[in-house]
Amino acid sequence: MTNKGVIIFGDPVLRKKALQVAKIDDRIRDLSARMFEVMKKARGVGLAANQVGALERLVVIDTNRGETKGHCFTLINPEIIGAKGGVKLEEGCLSFPDVSAEVERPEKIGFAATGLDGKKFEFEAEGILARAVQHEIDHLNGVLFIDHLGITKKMLLKKQLEELKKLSKKS
Ligand code: NI
Repeated sequence: MTNKGVIIFGDPVLRKKALQVAKIDDRIRDLSARMFEVMKKARGVGLAANQVGALERLVVIDTNRGETKGHCFTLINPEIIGAKGGVKLEEGCLSFPDVSAEVERPEKIGFAATGLDGKKFEFEAEGILARAVQHEIDHLNGVLFIDHLGITKKMLLKKQLEELKKLSKKS
């Protein structure tokens, strides 16, 4: 099953580098609102603009889960400014329905971004937030979570990935 409104692996837009957002205007505010909607429907914790076909450095994150209070952000031009440790966690992506794999990434990060209000801010993150921010910034650079996998794990996913590519050509 695909996630409505989310571009699937195989589409070249997921391999493109998104461009710096120069001005926060209605177009950017609308894009953020649309992305929140798509992410919510798909029950994702994060979504990058590439995944809805917009090559803008914009990410939405919502780590609120049921009773667990998390963080909700629109990140414009986000950047990692520090990283510590390393941890393996199971990771998925809305552009890869039904695919998941353990990915190793820094455990704690600092990041900087501009909010929809135009104000720059810095934030320290760990756990699922650190994971989501790193995954989404990767998207803005055309990098996908499968790029972090070793060759053996990638071989195991080969068939599933081929299926997704076929699916993306159809849609
Ligand atoms: Ni993703």
